[in-house]
Amino acid sequence: MRLFRSPRYNMVLHFALLVALNGLLLATAAAAPDTFNIRRVVPQRSIDIQNAQIIPQASFVSSFSSKVPRRAAKKRALLELRRSASKTSTIIGTDDNEEYATSITVGGQNFEVIDDTGSSDLFLPQVGFQCFSLSDASVPEADCFFCTAGFDPAKSRTFKPFNNMNFNITFADQEFLTGGVGFDTVSIGGLSVAQQEFGVVTKAAWNGDGVTSGLVGFAFPGLTSVFNGSNPDLDVPGGQVVYQPFFFKAVEDELVQPFFSVTLDRGSVAARTNSTLDPHLGFLALGGIPPVAVTGTSATVPIQGFSISSGASELFFYDVDVDKYTFPGSAGINLTGSSAILDTGTTLNLLPTPVANAYNAAFDPPGQLDPGSGLFLVDCSLLTKATNGNSKGIPPFSVVIGGKVFQVDGRDNVLPAGTDENGNEVCISGVQDGGPAEDGNIFILGDVFLHNVVSTFDVQRETITLHERAKY
Ligand SMILES: *[C@@H]1O[C@H](CO)[C@@H](O)[C@H](O)[C@H]1NC(C)=O
Ligand SMILES: *[C@@H]1O[C@H](CO)[C@@H](O)[C@H](O)[C@H]1NC(C)=O
Ligand SMILES: *[C@@H]1O[C@H](CO)[C@@H](O)[C@H](O)[C@H]1NC(C)=O
Ligand SMILES: *[C@@H]1O[C@H](CO)[C@@H](O)[C@H](O)[C@H]1NC(C)=O
Repeated sequence: MRLFRSPRYNMVLHFALLVALNGLLLATAAAAPDTFNIRRVVPQRSIDIQNAQIIPQASFVSSFSSKVPRRAAKKRALLELRRSASKTSTIIGTDDNEEYATSITVGGQNFEVIDDTGSSDLFLPQVGFQCFSLSDASVPEADCFFCTAGFDPAKSRTFKPFNNMNFNITFADQEFLTGGVGFDTVSIGGLSVAQQEFGVVTKAAWNGDGVTSGLVGFAFPGLTSVFNGSNPDLDVPGGQVVYQPFFFKAVEDELVQPFFSVTLDRGSVAARTNSTLDPHLGFLALGGIPPVAVTGTSATVPIQGFSISSGASELFFYDVDVDKYTFPGSAGINLTGSSAILDTGTTLNLLPTPVANAYNAAFDPPGQLDPGSGLFLVDCSLLTKATNGNSKGIPPFSVVIGGKVFQVDGRDNVLPAGTDENGNEVCISGVQDGGPAEDGNIFILGDVFLHNVVSTFDVQRETITLHERAKY
């Protein structure tokens, strides 16, 4: 079966196919273009936390302003990460995976940027930047699909160039961003950081989304991409002059507590059907948890790292160990060493095969595996009923992390997925097959799960605290 989409959707997908890069793969891609040797670090980190950490209310909150199609480079990073784990399925979700954007002010100029927890740099194009195709031919600026003409250093009273340094991200698939480096006042959600280092891109082979004009990374300093000297051609992989990314500098400057949180709202069925129009996107909260109601259920667990090539462990994604998944029929399922990435850029939960099979069989009527798409389809009448408060037929589903049970709302486990070739509405299950349940395989808890929790990243202790959200 082929699933069809609205014309608007196809336009967005078209951009998605062209989309660009992030800093995540830089080190590996540049060092070893043919092989992305990223693997799970063993032994896994464990910490001695009896009770969940107490997280304060955030001092600064920014609403997610838009969703944009997930960048190809991020898809690829995740794909490689998962593929390197023995037999993890390479299905990485439905086509409608998206990333979240937020508003940012740099030197008094406003931009929409992608929020990325899998990379660390902040960069913006500079006015007058040169755009290149992937084959390195000069093309019109518009072909880079940034939303604005770019950052204008001359119009900022606080901008200071970092002379004789360059910003450089290059990918195995020919996408790149290079340019200068500068410092300026950067504000997100009211948190204003003076003299924040960032990349000012003057040359880009970038297949943007037409909505954003850059990216702000929330991952660790080790992934930043600034090099000594003014000629990017002389940069050597691993030669980065590491700097403190936005949130790390804010913490260092004692402007904010070391926590940032991501909360994604479910949105209405209509909004999810037309997902690019969804106005209920949630919050990026800096310094604590955002103003959303939570239950008493919470857990704090260590973030699990990955090693790059033979190098040290890096924290890339929000990877956590999952104790188990519980639902009617889950009792006999043996899950060994099951870790999962909490990924805002993946729509579905991609879980071990036995979990997906048993959970989808428990629907009434049972979910059916569609051979064409490899997805479990479920009856759309369940979505209508669930929207009206009746989740009968949708089996309850919980994820146990750090010994605590986090429930997933039935409304998240049936998703509208457009229409089939006969014009019939198609719905898919929130739980899909992510590969066999083998030790070391990497699974994904996507928006289906994340709609039900506040996830808080502690950059000092390298932990994640999950709070279950009150029903909404
Ligand atoms: C850049 O390289 C020069 C020459 O080796 C050195 O003097 C300088 O300290 C370096 N700058 C940074 C920021 O590492
Ligand atoms: C830096 O940029 C140049 C020019 O785009 C590229 O050839 C080189 O591979 C880049 N170096 C690194 C370390 O990314
Ligand atoms: C989605 O948008 C289309 C076009 O604007 C509209 O016809 C359709 O009714 C919307 N779907 C829902 C469920 O609101
Ligand atoms: C679960 O599977 C693992 C590996 O396949 C095995 O070592 C373990 O004994 C099993 N546990 C149970 C309770 O069957």
